Amino acid sequence: MEMIHTASLMHDDVVDNAPTRRGKPSANAKWGNALSVLVGDYFWCKACEIIVQHGDFRLLKVVTDTITGTTEGEVLELTQSNDVGINEEEYLKIVRHKTAVLLSACCHAGAVLGKVSEMLETALRRFGLDLGIAFQLSDDVLDYVSEEERFGKTRGSDLREGKLTLPLIVALKRCTDPERAIIKDALLSTELSEVQLGKIIELLDKYEGIDYTRKLARDYAERAKSHLKPFKPSIEKDALLALADYVTSREE
Ligand code: FPP
Ligand code: MG
Repeated sequence: MEMIHTASLMHDDVVDNAPTRRGKPSANAKWGNALSVLVGDYFWCKACEIIVQHGDFRLLKVVTDTITGTTEGEVLELTQSNDVGINEEEYLKIVRHKTAVLLSACCHAGAVLGKVSEMLETALRRFGLDLGIAFQLSDDVLDYVSEEERFGKTRGSDLREGKLTLPLIVALKRCTDPERAIIKDALLSTELSEVQLGKIIELLDKYEGIDYTRKLARDYAERAKSHLKPFKPSIEKDALLALADYVTSREE
């Protein structure tokens, strides 16, 4: 799963033309797009090869469904970039596909390998899905509010990439026409200035786009935790519950 995740990020950084990843130069910035695409391909093919060797075809299906899902999410996001008409439901569909299916698959794979009942397998799959949505919602908040050195990404990078995430979608829905024009200008500008970014962050504050998104992230994290109710107490369960709290409280 880690190899598939790495592959998807190497490809994503090419798609987004991202200069950094986790606070360091991205693979595409260091070695170029061609190498990033090919090494990414190698990683996810190698991951599938390892699962085929293991011989559990249910596990293989969990993993291949994930690769299909995340790719669909990326394509959906790309086709909706710069589209100020995107609504919360469409945004959540992208988030579910782009990010949550991977976390869901990690939990689902554990359930398959652990040979738990169908009911518990579904519970773990749902835990991962809601956890993944909570994670991405928090990530989209951090893109606007984090300290760059701690987050490892440039502040406002979603806006620069033409990505409309929930904080901005909420503000767009609530703001005045002149303010909407400011947001559109910022989205379409080739070089987003610090002044423009500052103005957008002001609008996110004014229309509570950040607070709304943070609250929704906490709701998803709570829903994730509720899926674990049928599991009896264990340190593993405690770790998963703590993870759900961590994704909405992290600052980097
Ligand atoms: C990060 O999103 C990207 C993803 C979570 C998924 C990327 C998926 C693909 C490129 C499809 C190919 C998949 C495989 C397995 C090869 P983001 O750009 O919002 O986050 P970021 O800010 O961390 O870049
Ligand atoms: Mg990206």
